[in-house]
Amino acid sequence: MAEEHATLSNLSTENRSFPPSDEFAAQANATADWYDRADADREVFWAEQAERLHWERKWERVLDWDAPFAKWFVGGRLNVAYNCVDRHVEAGYGEQVAFHWEGEPGDTRTITYADLQREVCKTTNALIELGVGEGDRVAIQLPMIPEAVFSMLACARLGAMHSVVFGGFSPGALKARIEDAEAKLLITSDGQYRRGKPAPMKANTDEATAETPTIEHVLVVKRTEIDVPWTDGRDIWWHEIVDKQSEEHTPEAFDAEQPLYILYTSGTTGKPKGILHTAGGYLTQCAYTHNVVFDHKPGESVYWCTADIGWVTGHSYIVYGPLANRATSVMYEGTPNTPHEGRHWEIIQKYGVSIYYTAPTLIRTFMKWGTDIPAKYDLSSLRVLGSVGEPINPEAWMWYRENIGGNNCPIVDTWWQTETGAIMISPLPGVTAAKPGSAMRPLPGISAEIVNDAGEPVGHGNGGYLVLDEPWPSMLRGIWGDEERYRETYWSRFAEQGYYFAGDGAKYDDDGAFWLLGRVDDVMNVSGHRISTTEVESALVSHPTVAEAAVVGASDATTGQGIVAFVIMRGNVAQDEAKGADAIKALRDHVSKEIGPIAKPRQIMVVDELPKTRSGKIMRRLLRDVAENREIGDVTTLADSSVMDMISAGLQDSSRSED
Ligand code: WT7
Repeated sequence: MAEEHATLSNLSTENRSFPPSDEFAAQANATADWYDRADADREVFWAEQAERLHWERKWERVLDWDAPFAKWFVGGRLNVAYNCVDRHVEAGYGEQVAFHWEGEPGDTRTITYADLQREVCKTTNALIELGVGEGDRVAIQLPMIPEAVFSMLACARLGAMHSVVFGGFSPGALKARIEDAEAKLLITSDGQYRRGKPAPMKANTDEATAETPTIEHVLVVKRTEIDVPWTDGRDIWWHEIVDKQSEEHTPEAFDAEQPLYILYTSGTTGKPKGILHTAGGYLTQCAYTHNVVFDHKPGESVYWCTADIGWVTGHSYIVYGPLANRATSVMYEGTPNTPHEGRHWEIIQKYGVSIYYTAPTLIRTFMKWGTDIPAKYDLSSLRVLGSVGEPINPEAWMWYRENIGGNNCPIVDTWWQTETGAIMISPLPGVTAAKPGSAMRPLPGISAEIVNDAGEPVGHGNGGYLVLDEPWPSMLRGIWGDEERYRETYWSRFAEQGYYFAGDGAKYDDDGAFWLLGRVDDVMNVSGHRISTTEVESALVSHPTVAEAAVVGASDATTGQGIVAFVIMRGNVAQDEAKGADAIKALRDHVSKEIGPIAKPRQIMVVDELPKTRSGKIMRRLLRDVAENREIGDVTTLADSSVMDMISAGLQDSSRSED
C-alpha cells in the first residue's frame, strides 16, 4: 500500500470551472443551503428525504449505528414496488409513460405507469405460483428488456431478493452466483440481440444450471425466437405463465431493513462478493440523489441512463431511483453503434431526452467516432449530462460539454460504488461551479475524507485514500453469507477511526474539491466495470497450457484500463507455438468463455519468468510499467533482478490483438 500511495498525487491542475446559468440555478431542485442544513442535523435531513416515500408505518428512529452495522429508519415499514409503481397510479399518473423502451432491431414499447402496475402484478402472481416468497433469492439474467424491470419489481413486491447477473457473463459466472445465493428461480430469455444478430442466452444459462440443485424453475422470456434447449417440468415460458395471471396484487409492507437485492461485484480475491442492499434506506437515497443530482422534474423530464441493468447503475438509476420519483425514462436494449454510430443521438432526438447519464468509456468512444456524428442530430432537449464508472478525463468532460451539451448543460460527475448503493460525491447541477474531471464534493447528507496511511486527513492540495466517515442510508448491509469478509474488506484498513475504505485513491485540490484517482488495490476498471486481477489469473491458469499468470490493468485510451496478462506456459508446450497468434487467441477466448467477453485480455504476453519478491509476491508495479511502456521502476526487492530484462527482451515477439 505504501508503495502505491506515493503514486497517488495528481500532478495535473485544472483551472477551468463552469457555474450553472442563473436560469438553471433559479429552478433547481436543490440549493446551496442544503449542505448546511444537512450538516446541522444529518438525521433530520435524511428523515426529510425519506418522506419522499410512502411508509405504511413510520420509523421510530432514523439510525441505529453499531459500526460497521447500520439500520436506517428503524421500525418503519414500506413496500418498494408500491413506492415505485402503484402510488403514482393512485395519485392519477397512470397514463404517464414510465418507459419508452427501444429494442435494438428498432421495435419499441411504450409502458405507462398503469401498464407497469399491471405487468408487475402479473409477474408477482406468476412468481407466487412458482413458489417464490419472502426472503427467497431469484437469479435474473436478461437482456435490457422490460421484463427485467418487471422481474426486479416483482421480487421487491414479494420481499424476495433478486440477484441480477449481467447478460454478458459466462455460464460459470452465473453458476457461481446462483450457488452462492442459493437461488430458487432463474429468469432468463431465449436469446439476446448483439450488434444486430440474435445470440443464444438460454443455451448458456442451461450450462450454468446443469448442476445447481437449488434452482427449481427457469422462467424464459421469448425475445429472439432463437431455438432453445428445454427441460420439461423445470422450464416455463414467460408468456405461458405470466400472461394468464391476475392484474391485481395487494402489496404487503416490509421492514425498512428487509433485504432487497444481492449484486455481485469483483474484489481483490477470485470469489465475487454478494453486496447486500435493503429496502428503506436504499430507496430513500436512490430517490433523493436522482432528484437532486439530475434535477429531475416528474412529468417533464425525459431521463435516460445508458447503463445495463446488470450493474448497480442499472439497479439504482434505471429502476429504483427514477421510478420512485415518477420519471419518464428511455430504456435501450442495444449497443451504441447498432445499426449506426449515431444511435444514441437519434434516440435523444426522438424522445426529447433532457437528462442523459453515461460512462466515460462511452464518451471517449464517441470522441473517437467524431464530432460530426452527434452534430447531425437535434440535441437541444438536453439539460443535464451525467458521468459514472471511472474518472472522466478533463478532455472528455470538455468534449461532452461542447458536443453533446451544446455548452449549456451542467455536467455531473458522480462517484459511487456497488457498495454505496447510490451517488455519494457529485456536483449539484444548479449550485456547483463544476471543474472538468472533478466529482467536486460529497452530497448534502454525505461525509467523505481523504486520509493518509495513518488515517489522518491530508488537507487541501494533497492526495491519499478516500474514506467515508459517516454511515449513509443506501450503504451495503454486508456481503451475503460472509460477515468476516465484510469487516475485513471495508472496515479493517482504518478500523481505529471507524472509516469505510472505498479502495480508491483521491486528492483534494487547493479549493478542497475531490479528484478521484482510481483504485489502489488489485481491482481493474475496464469500461467502468470492476474486474479483479485474481479472477482473470484464475481463468488463465484453468487453461491446460498455462502454468502461471499475472494480470495487471494498463491505461487504455478508450476503456480506461485494459487487461494485460503475463503468462508462463507449461513445460510441455512448444515455445514457438505458445507465442503464436493462435495460442494467444485461444487464451483470450478462454478467459472470455470463463468470465465473459468484458474480461478478455487486451494483450497477452508469454514470458519465462514473473517478477517476484523474495516472499513470492508478484510485483505488479513492474508489470504495469511494462504494460504501459514505461521505463521499469525500482527492482531492488526482486528475488531475481534479471527477470525484468528477460521479460522486456521477450516482448518483441509477443502478440497483441484487438476486437
Ligand atoms: C468503482 C466502483 C458506481 C457505479 C458504476 C461502478 C470507480 C465510479 C467514478 C467516478 C472516478 C469512479 C471507482 C469506484 N468510479 N464512479 N465518477 N470517478 N471513479 O460501480 O463496479 O461498484 O465500481 O468505480 O473506482 O470504486 P462499481
